[in-house]
Amino acid sequence: IKNIAVFTSGGDAPGMNAAIRAVVRTGLYYNLNVFGIGRGYDGLVHDDLFAMDAKSVANIIQRGGTILKTARSEEFRTVEGRRRAFENLQKRGIDGLVAIGGDGTFTGASKFIEEYNIPIIGLPGTIDNDLAGTDFTIGYDTAINTVIEAVDKIRDTAESHDRVFVVEVMGRDSGLIALRSGISVGAECVLIPEIKVDYQAMMDRLDRTRKNKASRVIIVAEGDDAGGAFVVAERIKERFPHYDLRVSILGHIQRGGSPTCMDRVLASRLGVAAVEALMEGRKGEMAGLIHGQVAFTPFEKAIKHIGAVNDNLLRIVDILSS
Ligand code: F6P
Repeated sequence: IKNIAVFTSGGDAPGMNAAIRAVVRTGLYYNLNVFGIGRGYDGLVHDDLFAMDAKSVANIIQRGGTILKTARSEEFRTVEGRRRAFENLQKRGIDGLVAIGGDGTFTGASKFIEEYNIPIIGLPGTIDNDLAGTDFTIGYDTAINTVIEAVDKIRDTAESHDRVFVVEVMGRDSGLIALRSGISVGAECVLIPEIKVDYQAMMDRLDRTRKNKASRVIIVAEGDDAGGAFVVAERIKERFPHYDLRVSILGHIQRGGSPTCMDRVLASRLGVAAVEALMEGRKGEMAGLIHGQVAFTPFEKAIKHIGAVNDNLLRIVDILSS
């Protein structure tokens, strides 16, 4: 291969810039021409392609967001949109793509390969950690550290006022942000989409733990089975009207910020691996880390993560919160 291009797609995640930098610098290291694509698949359809050099990725490893910008493209979902995207690649002789994103990104990439046989390697870029084929996705570590910083602050005020807080974190279809950050902040309860809420058990625990701690924190994933933090708060209020209760939705602060060391190193390792994989003729696979080693997983498998929670982590919440 001679010419490669890189893009970010779907929700942004801290560490995407570190991944872009790694792809560009590795491509240049191997004397390839490297292009950037602005705004993900949308930029590909609308010919937003430009040459990148070592300088264009200087001073970005520490920055959150994505310098290439990102979007969710309706046009790329159409046959005509993908045809235009392919023509834009052909025009420049691009013979390899690195797609940084989550399940939507890899679903689009699979379709594109099926129709045009374009070599594409994926990098897992999402705060949700909801992809199979990698222990951690790029952005997850930063996001959970943002959550624990915020909830530690909430705990200070909650404890001072003897309050109960319901804190909603991101994760539309996945409770992995809630689960790991919940353990880290010593949450009394963690509610996630993968597990049906047992209100009775939750109320019992809130009541029981009262004797040990004036404050109590319930971490709720936005896509939880109960219907979100406000619904959970209503239910608690019905059962314990005397509780001084507050709701806090952390929202998009979880998507920004300077990536942690873990995310920078992960992005750098996988960025190098992606370019080398394209040079070896691989395609249709996501580069990830499994047990600390680089591993490749077909897109179809990588996106089938839904429902996979580590039972052991749930058990730890149960044991330690009582
Ligand atoms: O997939 C990342 C994520 O932040 C999810 O956790 C969240 O449900 C979703 O994106 C929010 O998307 P948007 O920024 O488009 O509202």
